[in-house]
Amino acid sequence: MAGRRRRLIAGNWKMNGLFGPGRAELGKLARKLLAAPPRGADIVICPPATLLRPFSDLLRELGAARRIALGGQDCHGAESGAHTGDLSAEMLRDAGARYVILGHSERRADHGESDASVRDKVVAAHRAGLTAILCVGETAAEREAGQALAVVRRQILGSLPESAEAANTAIAYEPVWAIGSGKTPTGPEIVEVHAALRATLAARWQEAEKVRILYGGSVKPGNAAALLGLAEVDGALVGGASLTAAEFWPIAGAGG
Ligand code: PGA
Repeated sequence: MAGRRRRLIAGNWKMNGLFGPGRAELGKLARKLLAAPPRGADIVICPPATLLRPFSDLLRELGAARRIALGGQDCHGAESGAHTGDLSAEMLRDAGARYVILGHSERRADHGESDASVRDKVVAAHRAGLTAILCVGETAAEREAGQALAVVRRQILGSLPESAEAANTAIAYEPVWAIGSGKTPTGPEIVEVHAALRATLAARWQEAEKVRILYGGSVKPGNAAALLGLAEVDGALVGGASLTAAEFWPIAGAGG
C-alpha cells in the first residue's frame, strides 16, 4: 500500500442551520480546532449553501480558514444558465467552498439523481477546482439480497469521470440504511465494501491507492474511533453528529 492516506472528516449539515445559531456553532468548533488541531486530518464542514459565504468570512476572521474547509452539498453540471433554483460548482467556489458532496443518497432519492447525472456533477466540481466527495451505498433491501458490492461497484463505475484524481476526489461509502438510523454495518462488512471499491478502482485507475474512501452513516463520538480504526477507512462523512461542535469535535479528533 502507498503511504498512509491523510484522513478526511467531513460534516454534512444537510438542510439544517440558520445564520445566527450556525455561526455560533461553527465558531465553537473553530476555537476548539485552533486550540488543539487534530493531527493528520483534513476537516470540512458542508453547511447549506446559504451559509457558505458567512462561514467563510467567519473562519477568516478567526484565523481558522486553514483548519476548517467548507463544502457544498450538491451542484449543477453546468457553469451557469437557465436552471432555476440550482447552483453551479463555480458559485459554490465563489462563496468559499473547496469541496462538494455529490450523489448523496438523499439527493438520489429526492431528486432522482442517476449515476450519469452524478458523474456530470463530479466533472463540474473538478472544472471549478472543487474536491468532490462522491457518495455510494446500498439500500437495506439490496444488502439483504446480497447485492451490496454489486450496487456500489455499479455506482462508482457509473459516476467517476476521467477527470478524477486522488487530489480532487474522495469516495464516501454510505449504506442508505445506516444514515440517520443509529445502525452501522459491522467492521468486517465495512472493510469488505471499502476493499471492493478500491479493487474496482484499481482495475482502471492509477490513483486508486491514493484516493480516500470515507465511511458515512450514524458516525457518532462513541463509535468514531472504532470506525476510523478500520483498515481501508480513510475518514468519515458525518451527518447528525456534525451539527454541534460538542459532538463533531471528538469525531474530528478520533482519527488522529
Ligand atoms: P448521519 O448522516 O451521520 O446522520 O447518519 C450521514 C450522511 O448522510 O452523510
